[in-house]
Amino acid sequence: MSASLLRRLPTTLVNRIAAGEVVERPASAVKELVENAIDAGAHRIAVTLKEGGRTFISVVDDGIGMSADELQLAVERHCTSKLPDDELTDIRTLGFRGEALPSIASVSRFTVTSRPAGADTAWSLEIDGGLKGDPKPAAHPAGTRVEVRDLFFATPARLKFLKEPRTESGHVADAMRRLAMAHPAVAFRLESEERALIDLAAANPSLLGGDAARLERLAAIMGREFADNALAIDANREGFRLSGFAGLPTLNRPTGQHQYLFVNGRPVRDKLLAGAVRGAYQDFLARDRHPMVALFLEAPPEMVDVNVHPAKTEVRFRDAGIVRGLIVGALRTALAAAGHRASTTVSDAALGAFRSHTGYSAPLPMSGGGNGFAMPRGLAEAAAQFMSPFGAPSARVEMPSGEIAAGNYPLGVARAQLHETYIVAQTDQGVVIVDQHAAHERLVHERLKNQLEADGVKRQALLLPEVVELGEDGARRLAGRAAELAEMGLVLEPFGLGAVVVRETPAVLGEVDIQGLVRDLADELAEMGDHLALKEKVEQVCGTLACHTSVRAGRRLTVEEMNALLRQMEATPHSGQCNHGRPTYVELKLADIERLFGRR
Ligand SMILES: Nc1ncnc2c1ncn2[C@@H]1O[C@H](COP(=O)(O)OP(=O)(O)OP(=O)(O)O)[C@@H](O)[C@H]1O
Ligand SMILES: [Mg+2]
Repeated sequence: MSASLLRRLPTTLVNRIAAGEVVERPASAVKELVENAIDAGAHRIAVTLKEGGRTFISVVDDGIGMSADELQLAVERHCTSKLPDDELTDIRTLGFRGEALPSIASVSRFTVTSRPAGADTAWSLEIDGGLKGDPKPAAHPAGTRVEVRDLFFATPARLKFLKEPRTESGHVADAMRRLAMAHPAVAFRLESEERALIDLAAANPSLLGGDAARLERLAAIMGREFADNALAIDANREGFRLSGFAGLPTLNRPTGQHQYLFVNGRPVRDKLLAGAVRGAYQDFLARDRHPMVALFLEAPPEMVDVNVHPAKTEVRFRDAGIVRGLIVGALRTALAAAGHRASTTVSDAALGAFRSHTGYSAPLPMSGGGNGFAMPRGLAEAAAQFMSPFGAPSARVEMPSGEIAAGNYPLGVARAQLHETYIVAQTDQGVVIVDQHAAHERLVHERLKNQLEADGVKRQALLLPEVVELGEDGARRLAGRAAELAEMGLVLEPFGLGAVVVRETPAVLGEVDIQGLVRDLADELAEMGDHLALKEKVEQVCGTLACHTSVRAGRRLTVEEMNALLRQMEATPHSGQCNHGRPTYVELKLADIERLFGRR
C-alpha cells in the first residue's frame, strides 16, 4: 500500500466508527444516556421516545449538571470526569471511557442542555452529525436534558437495520428496566408516543430497609409473583458479595429471559454467571426450564475488568472460580434451607439396575411436574410406605383383575398407584413404573399435533373467561398472534393494558392452569421473535400446551384410567419419553430385581 494513502481519519469519522460499536440501536443510546444520569446522581430520570427512538429521544435528569465549559468537553471524545486517578483498575461509575456522548452526537442531531445546581443559567450545545456548535444560554432547571433527533441519519446503513418502532421501544424499555432494578432509589419513567411504558417511583430506603426497597423495585418489574416466591440471598467470599433474590424452583419459565444479573450495579449478560445459576438449580429443574433470579454481585473493582465489551454488558473476572463458587454455594444453600431438596435417594446399585423400555440407561429419572419442577421422590421411600403394615397413606393396591393377562401388553396391567404420581404395572417379565404426568403430557402433545394436521384443534369454551396479566410487551405479543393461537385451540384477546382474556382452550388439555400456560407462551413468543410463524414452531407450542395438561402428578386415577393410559401409550408413537426428553416410564425386569436382591 502506498504511504500516501495512510492518513489520520477526521474526528467525525472516528466518532462514527466508535458509534458503530457503542450505539447499535435506540436502546443502546438510551442506555448510555440513562447511565450518565445515574452517574450524575439523579433522583429522577425521564425518557421520551418518538417512533421507537428513531426520530426522537430525550433523557432528562435532576443530577449534578454541567457548566458551559464542562458541556464543551463532555461531547469530546475521551473526555470523562469518571477516572480521577488515570487508572482503569478502580471503576465505580457506569461510564468511564468518555465515548458515549461524542459517539451518539456523531450519528444524530444532538442537543444537550444543562445547569449545575446553584448556577443561575443553563447552557445548551448542539451537534449536528458530529459538527459542534457553540454553547448558548438556555432556560432549564438544575440537571441535564439530552435530546437525540434522527438517530443514524448520518449512517444510513445502520438506519436500515432498525426494526419497527414497537420492537425498538421494547428494547429501550428492557434496557431501562435492567438499570432500574439496580437503582431502586431512583425514579424512572419511559414514555413512548405519549404512553407510559415504565413508571417507577423511587423507593425510600430510609423508610424501607435496603433489601425491602430492592424487593419492591424487583416486584414492580418482575411481578408480584416473583417477590412472593423469592428467597433472599446474601453471601460473601473473599471480598465478593452476592445479594438479591432467587425464585423458588417451582417458579420457573421456559426461557432464561427472567434472569437478571448485575456486577457492581451494572446489568450484564455473562455466560459465566448464567452458567453458575444453571448449575445451582440443576437438581431442581428440568433442563428446559429456567429459574427467575435477580442477583447482584459486588466485586472489588480490581478483581473485575469491565472494559471488555463495547456496550459494557460483559465483564471479566480475575478469578472466575471464586465467583462461580460463591453463586452456586449461595443459591444451593438458600434452596436447601427452603426445604426443596431431594429427600431419599436410591442406592447406586439399584439405580444401575433400572432400564427404561427404550433402552434408556441414565440414573432413575425424577418425575417432572408439568412446570418442570423435579419432584425428587425416592423409590426407596415409596417402597417403604408400600410395605408399611399400617397401610401407606398414598399407596393404593389394586387386586389383580384376573381377565387381563399381562403378557398381552408391553406395558403390562396396572396394579397400583403410588404417591398419586406413579402407576405401577405388572408385565410378563417384570415391573413397569409410569410417571403419569409425563406420560399424559406426551399423549396430549401427539393428539394436538394430529388434530392440527387434520381439521384443527378442538376447543372448549371456558365458563368464566380468565384474565391473565402479562405486562405490555407480553400481552401485545400474544394478542398479535391471536389468529394463529386460535388455530391451535387457544382463543384470547387483548384486555386493557398489559393483559389478555382467555375464552377457549384446547379441549384435549382438560382443565388447565391458564395463568401458567399463557405466561409460558408469552415468554416463548418473545424468544422466537416476531417474524417466525407459529406453524414453524408447532412442536414447541404443542409442547408448551401439553405441558399444562390436566392429569398432573398428584391426581388419583382409577384402575380403568390407569389401564387406559397404558394402552394409549402403547398405541402412541414416541410415548416413551415426555416432551422434555425425560422417559415416561421405566421397566424393571425380573432378572434386574433378582440381581438387586442378590438372587443372581
Ligand atoms: N447527565 C449528565 N449529567 C452530568 N454530567 C454528565 C451527564 N452526561 C454526561 N456527563 C459528563 O460528560 C462526560 C462524558 O459522558 P460520556 O457518556 O460521553 O462518557 P462517560 O460517561 O465518562 O464514559 P462512557 O463512554 O463509558 O459512558 C461524563 O464523564 C460526565 O462528566
Ligand atoms: Mg457515559
